[in-house]
Amino acid sequence: MQNFDFFNPVNILFGKGQIGKLSQLVPAGTKVMIAYGGGSIFSNGVYDQVKLALQGFDTVEFGGIEPNPHYETLMKAVEIVKKEAVGFILAVGGGSVLDGVKFIAAAACWEGADPWDFLAQRSRLTATKAIALGSVLTLPATGSEMNSTAVVTRVSTQEKLAFASRAVMPKFSILDPTVVFSLPDKQIANGIVDAFVHVIEQYLTYPVNAPIQDRFAESILLTLAEEGPKVMANKRDYDAAANFMWAATMALNGLIGCGVPQDWATHMIGHELTAFHNIDHARTLAIVLPGLMKVKRENKKEKLLQYGERVWGVVSGTEEERIDATIAQTVSFFESVGIPTTLSAYGIGEEFIPVVCDRFAARGFTGIGERGDLTIPQIAEVLKLQL
Ligand code: NZQ
Ligand code: ZN
Repeated sequence: MQNFDFFNPVNILFGKGQIGKLSQLVPAGTKVMIAYGGGSIFSNGVYDQVKLALQGFDTVEFGGIEPNPHYETLMKAVEIVKKEAVGFILAVGGGSVLDGVKFIAAAACWEGADPWDFLAQRSRLTATKAIALGSVLTLPATGSEMNSTAVVTRVSTQEKLAFASRAVMPKFSILDPTVVFSLPDKQIANGIVDAFVHVIEQYLTYPVNAPIQDRFAESILLTLAEEGPKVMANKRDYDAAANFMWAATMALNGLIGCGVPQDWATHMIGHELTAFHNIDHARTLAIVLPGLMKVKRENKKEKLLQYGERVWGVVSGTEEERIDATIAQTVSFFESVGIPTTLSAYGIGEEFIPVVCDRFAARGFTGIGERGDLTIPQIAEVLKLQL
């Protein structure tokens, strides 16, 4: 096992009715910004619960944070935070609202020229200060509710970049599984696939004799494979929704990634698909991952065999046949929840491949993945296999 430094101070309040505890969590005597997305919180009753719980608090609202939150929109909130001397920001929404709030919180304290720099120049600049924030999560998927990462899109340059800072970890996150009841099927499927791929990024690499991390990871994959379809079949199944929600949080709160190599190439390539074609985040992962598994089948051989056996019960055949069957099982799982795994499903052809490769080259990447050896020609190969 590799050395690691694990830090996760996020207070999780899980279950029905927990939104009512907001008044004990949000600091009194400070101006609170309530930030939300396109309005789902008004139709599913979450907004009313938040307002009721925060009666008597001094609040200002900022709505309209879009999926794949835009730098351009978030900078408007930064202005309000500064002007109104906001001391706490409450994100009420999915991963996009949460990520947007993390950016707003850090950007409002940024002393450099342009806060975009802590995304664009991430290797050099870190946002170390931020306004305190908390969340009421309405979509299980990203794990943002219990981690230090945020992903922001800059529309003017068609860039989608991430930053991470302990300063933006939520003070608390409220996870009430009944929020799943109002989710469109598409968003439930997205959440299942995103969480599944988060685990894969931290698990499907090479063995380092870390059985706790492996078995934690496998338990999350199995839970998503079992409970995800139950939620798809009946989104009002509270127990299935609760298991799905907790699995998605556990998939990316840092625990399973302790002391193990991590890949993240699928996400890095997927972000380009969103940046250029606005495909939902999870859907980009379902396209890229099967291609990556094929291209990296030799490097990932031991873990592919372990994953196939322990998650999908693939035990017969030669090693090569078992790997083929494991990749096929992964594809059929994604497709079973209605998520396609090809570029053509979105009308994207071969001409897009050099665009992605040029972008990686322009950023100076020579290789990505757990060994830093997924080269730009191999990225092209991954996408070609998924045409
Ligand atoms: O905007 P509203 O009206 O709220 O509607 C949203 C949005 O249209 C809707 N929705 C959310 N909760 C709902 C609901 N509709 C009905 N009922 C509810 N309870 O769902 C739509 C999608 O929301 P969004 O927040 O965009 O989805 P998700 O949670 O999948 O977040 C995706 C974003 O997170 C980033 C992605 O790149 C993407 O930008 N990620 C963040 C990560 C992190 N911080 O660690 C890791 C991930 O890999 C990912 O990159
Ligand atoms: Zn993701």
